[in-house]
Amino acid sequence: MYKIAWMPGDGIGIEVMHAARMVLDAIKLDAEYTPADIGWEFWCNEGEALPQRTLDLLKSSHCALFGAITSKPKEEADAELASHLRGKGLVYRSPIVRLRQMFDLYTNLRPCKAYRGNPLNYRDDIDLVVFRENTEGLYVGVEFYPLPDDVRRALDASPGMRGFQDLPSDDIAFSARIITRRGSERIVRAAFEYAQKYGYRNVTLVEKPNVLRETSGLMTRVARQVAQDFPSIELWEANVDAIMMWLVKNPHQYGVIVTSNMFGDIVSDLCAQLVGGLGFAASGNIGKNFAVFEPTHGSAPKYAGQNKVNPIATFLAAKLMLDWLGEKDKAARLEHAIAQVIAEGRTRTYDMGGKNTTMEMADAVAGKL
Ligand code: NAI
Ligand code: MG
Repeated sequence: MYKIAWMPGDGIGIEVMHAARMVLDAIKLDAEYTPADIGWEFWCNEGEALPQRTLDLLKSSHCALFGAITSKPKEEADAELASHLRGKGLVYRSPIVRLRQMFDLYTNLRPCKAYRGNPLNYRDDIDLVVFRENTEGLYVGVEFYPLPDDVRRALDASPGMRGFQDLPSDDIAFSARIITRRGSERIVRAAFEYAQKYGYRNVTLVEKPNVLRETSGLMTRVARQVAQDFPSIELWEANVDAIMMWLVKNPHQYGVIVTSNMFGDIVSDLCAQLVGGLGFAASGNIGKNFAVFEPTHGSAPKYAGQNKVNPIATFLAAKLMLDWLGEKDKAARLEHAIAQVIAEGRTRTYDMGGKNTTMEMADAVAGKL
């Protein structure tokens, strides 16, 4: 029996997870779903959006399914804290970013497949999978403003700093982009292994080594090396700016895409929109021994409590979870049920141009199971 941590979170996260539970029950996964606290309410009342008891539960679970959370800018976050917690220097931290770091969930997996009959498809023959590195790159949080003297002295070792010599340190903000051999190796390997397992014939490395010579350069060299272990799969290389055009022109030609953190953030949103947007975009945050699956949308406060949004992204996240657990047959059945409902076109939520509710969509998919 699987132990699955169940994290609905805020807003529509609660509704789409309720719908997902109905579908998982219909597929009869032998699992225990343990509710776990995460989100805005826990920030407001406890000063921590990801309480320790949730971390403890996650450590004793096989994996987690997560809905969505609300987060707000600094001033609002401080203002909404319970009065007894104010003025104690509590700082809001994104729970999903923390989970990625704490559990070393280095792969962000974002499949983008056009299901036949989805009126939102850009084309009907798209089947892309984005592997975004989740733990390093431009999002490591090594940032300075104003630029401290010792950091400035260190940076002056680079000729690139010459153009900034006349500026005062409080006119310069700095964010580091850190790429490691280990980080590059494991994400590229994960992408190739996935391509091999699911029959994709090419892996495209998306970087910018002609300009980001050191960071993208290292990742490119590592990718070429890893590719040698997979002779049946072609390694393609594309610059991040150019591929935005290619993905709009010929998205059907690409299979697996692998890239660093920020480029992956951008590329995966473009790809998601090619196959229907936020109502269809699911992701897995995957490490060696643990994974968190989620729809990529947020808590959409303007639709919260209306039983209106599309739960398919969460069903697809559940499908990724089944795959990761090794439940191939159940994963395939769930995907087939979703595909059938989309193809028939009788049940459509508002984003698909229909009038059906979240739970009607859940009913339709569960019905196919
Ligand atoms: P959002 O993703 O919550 O919603 C943006 C818009 O997309 C919605 O207003 C709606 O029009 C559409 N949408 C989203 N999910 C949909 C679905 N399942 N079906 C149909 N349409 C859907 O992004 P927004 O409004 O910028 O952020 C709201 C809150 O969510 C913020 O507090 C933000 O910080 C948080 N957020 C959380 C994320 C997470 O939990 N992983 C990710 C993104 C935002
Ligand atoms: Mg994003």
